[in-house]
Amino acid sequence: MGGLGRRGRAAPALAGAVLALLAAAARPGPQARAAVPSGGPAPTFYRNVLPILQQHCQSCHRPGEIGPMPLESYAQARRYAAAIRRKTSARAMPPWFAQRGIGRWANDPSLTAAQIRTLAAWAAAGAPAGDPRAAPPPRHWTRGWNIPPPDRVFRMPVAVHLPAHGDVAYTYEIVPTHFRHAHWVRMVEVRPSSRANVHHAVVYVRPRGSGWLRGAPVGEPFTAESLLGRRYLRNALATTSDILLVYAPGSAPGRWPHSMGEKIPAGADLVFQMHYITSGRPAVDQASVGLVFNRKPPAQRVLTLQLTNSSFVIPPHAANYRVEVHGSLPGNATLLSFFPHMHLRGKRFAYNLIGRDGRIHPLLIVHWNFYWQRSYILAKPLFLKAGTVLQAVAWYDNSSANPHNPNPNVAVRWGDQTTSEMMVGFFDIAVPANINKQRYFAERGSRAGR
Ligand code: HEC
Repeated sequence: MGGLGRRGRAAPALAGAVLALLAAAARPGPQARAAVPSGGPAPTFYRNVLPILQQHCQSCHRPGEIGPMPLESYAQARRYAAAIRRKTSARAMPPWFAQRGIGRWANDPSLTAAQIRTLAAWAAAGAPAGDPRAAPPPRHWTRGWNIPPPDRVFRMPVAVHLPAHGDVAYTYEIVPTHFRHAHWVRMVEVRPSSRANVHHAVVYVRPRGSGWLRGAPVGEPFTAESLLGRRYLRNALATTSDILLVYAPGSAPGRWPHSMGEKIPAGADLVFQMHYITSGRPAVDQASVGLVFNRKPPAQRVLTLQLTNSSFVIPPHAANYRVEVHGSLPGNATLLSFFPHMHLRGKRFAYNLIGRDGRIHPLLIVHWNFYWQRSYILAKPLFLKAGTVLQAVAWYDNSSANPHNPNPNVAVRWGDQTTSEMMVGFFDIAVPANINKQRYFAERGSRAGR
């Protein structure tokens, strides 16, 4: 397959102009200066290591975030020097799952080879502190958020009580915004209060007058089954409402350039769709979504679309079962990011462009890890003409060689619970601000019509 070089040359001819809207986010930060030439004096914590930790690690390794220990002070980092060396040398930290050499990603936290050498040399030298005056200023983080302080936070009004064991049906909570005029969202983050119990969550924008979940209670949790009876379940799951954000373990907030935003129309509701898992003890969750608004209405609107195939059957013991779906864009669009979703038998997930000549241009290959579901934000958004064909391909490992496989002896179909599978290729595009999803999108190749 082509890799970066071929795609880099082919893309402009194939897809028109390549915009550099996120280029700033892709520029290397101060960490580039922190690398130490080999043969020089041993690197020290304050001068060489702390800048790397600030730029690449503290987003997770600080209090309240998903890393198991903070890496903010010398004392904290010194204790883990050997582990830091081991994990970074193996490229296990920071976590990143995109195939190297295909695409460039604004949110790729990977270390350079020089940074990895610096951390290894520091650990090997006995983790010296060095001179605190050489330290960079402490990095400023928003407490409780990975976005700047939100302009608005919507919290599920009523907490959801989860049992200790068993499956939990998708749980919904509708939260009215009471917005009198449209609001544009430039950054969005979902925060469960009990992270360990959230398999994934989707926050939808339900416009005023929508028929989706009509009759459901507002401001309290419910499941589609409890509300409508089983035969309406499909109806509850299938909605054309805009998606504000998909949250999953290890996922990142949504962030857009100033010229783009997600629209919450006047009078819209936010709908939390929570997929909870039980953890062996009873738990309570009350998730929040934080919003940072655009200062003025942006020129472009961000829409989340999805390529879905829900009619596959993965045979027992199949070690590399391939499921494909493709669709064409009905209008021009600027491609911004990807977010693949599968369950425990997922192995690989690819997004491709299929050229008019039928040639396949790889955009992203993710080596799947269910516990690290991430978005992949293009370093350079890609302008795509109407009619462009996007393809998503998923591979599944239903063999006993897959350590996460709950049961290799069964045929596996689409289903909500982790013991079943999913095949969803979410992707975000930007379109002119006056276009909504209904007007924009018609999927081709998706048998589910989701
Ligand atoms: C996206 C979040 C995230 C980022 C960024 C991240 N980590 Fe981690 N880190 C985790 C989580 C979660 C774990 C525990 C689970 C695991 O090991 O996968 C972990 C585990 C570790 C461990 C193992 C701890 C132990 O108990 O042995 C080390 C060491 C570590 N990280 C170092 C780093 C360093 C150094 C960086 C930056 C170069 C970094 N991490 C960046 C989330 C992150």
